[in-house]
Amino acid sequence: MTIKISPDEIKRQREFSKKAGEILKSRTASPIAHVHTFGCQQNVSDGEKIKGMLAEMGCGLSNTPDGADIVIFNTCAVRENAEDRVFGNLGALKHEKAKNPDMIIAVCGCMTEQEHIVERIKKSFPHVDLVFGTNALHTLPELIYGQLTGKKRVFSVPKCDGTIAEGLPIRRESRITANIPIMYGCNNFCSYCIVPFVRGRERSREMSDIIAEVKQAIESGAKDIWLLGQNVNSYGKELGTSFSELLREVNAISGEFRINYMSSHPKDATKELIDTIAECEKVSRHFHLPVQSGSDRILKLMNRHYTRSDYLEEVRYIREKIPDSAITSDIIVGFPGETYEDFKDTLSLIEQVRFDSLYTFIFSPRKGTKASEMDDFVSAEEKGKWFKELLSVQSQIGRGMYEKYVGRTFRVLCEGRGRSNEKLFTGHTEQGAIVDFDGDSSLIGKFVSVKIEQAFEWMLMGKTID
Ligand code: SAM
Ligand code: SF4
Ligand code: F3S
Repeated sequence: MTIKISPDEIKRQREFSKKAGEILKSRTASPIAHVHTFGCQQNVSDGEKIKGMLAEMGCGLSNTPDGADIVIFNTCAVRENAEDRVFGNLGALKHEKAKNPDMIIAVCGCMTEQEHIVERIKKSFPHVDLVFGTNALHTLPELIYGQLTGKKRVFSVPKCDGTIAEGLPIRRESRITANIPIMYGCNNFCSYCIVPFVRGRERSREMSDIIAEVKQAIESGAKDIWLLGQNVNSYGKELGTSFSELLREVNAISGEFRINYMSSHPKDATKELIDTIAECEKVSRHFHLPVQSGSDRILKLMNRHYTRSDYLEEVRYIREKIPDSAITSDIIVGFPGETYEDFKDTLSLIEQVRFDSLYTFIFSPRKGTKASEMDDFVSAEEKGKWFKELLSVQSQIGRGMYEKYVGRTFRVLCEGRGRSNEKLFTGHTEQGAIVDFDGDSSLIGKFVSVKIEQAFEWMLMGKTID
């Protein structure tokens, strides 16, 4: 059962913030916290709440752990290399802690929801003071207060289906982009994926809470609204509403801004939703629809609940309804039992669809998932070869995709200094393509018209026009 954290509990935590802040202030005039977030945009959003709570305790934020009073690693468990990076970074903190024994080191996020990880931290990383799970995020002030008042190491990973905590303070990473979770958790149990185990059951925020947050973000100057969830297409099922309804409501908010969302599951991307997106002028023309594989046999083993032809039909419908849209995807190479024939089905799907860009991953077994127990006969070396082949096929397609934009003019949100050159400025088109262009800093946070002059594999170059 989902637990809604009561306003009284949030108030109680704010009291702990105050008390923790007083102790921190008595130790040093300007306490410093460092938060390192790994993983997806949902985790970034959690990181913004962690920073919000730390700021309420009076902490300044720094980009490095050096000299910090509090260090928090907000972790990701999606692939083994994500976890390895966290362990590497944690190991490196040992020296910092030796120099500054009062430093509070905490680990939270998806990794901490796995028992074997908590055990490893307990045994091998004695300098970690605090571990708290994804459902204990809102209790950070109480946990920090406990550490400041002499508590021993704390491991707080409550077992429950998931929490929803409204009213936490947020320190957004960007003035222009606002990450707004619309739901948490996942019920899909794709056989390779750890997320349902570490993020709990799917649960949606009340639409009124989301709308209030979007309005507040827009009033503070945000122009790029990201609605976040592991499968936004199933938003609101338990509330008797839908993602289409939410999009219409957000689209109706007055002001000039763009609506993006992440992630979509192809099994729930209905024609009705695509029709809604076509009608909502503020919703971006970028569909990120992770397909994972082009082989029906592998899709079934992955528990994805759609076939290659279902997926191709969705792509056809998107392009019929919104011809100017971009479609991107995620692919997993080397799923257990995948043969070269299956892999070739993935290549042929990529050639057929011609994605604007792809996020590609080699299968990483995750403890507790079904796929981690399936027989896997293909060597890592062979998987590496397939992976390279996939990259080279997509690289040829990608180059062609961006060339079609040359000579056309796009509405681009200016997000900051250029990626290719500090003298230029950068932003995204409605299709999600990155563009660098000329201008001055007064453009940051505004929509500008940019004529595309040059295409590269990953980005475009253009000139602003009046
Ligand atoms: N909920 C989203 C979805 O369904 O598309 C995103 C889930 S995950 C955070 C992002 C991507 O990581 C997935 O689409 C998948 O391609 C990849 N991924 C997840 N688990 C993986 C694993 N065990 N090994 C390799 N890639 C994985
Ligand atoms: Fe993982 Fe599948 Fe849920 Fe996405 S939909 S988070 S891939 S289980
Ligand atoms: Fe990673 Fe957790 Fe996101 S596992 S990808 S940070 S939901």
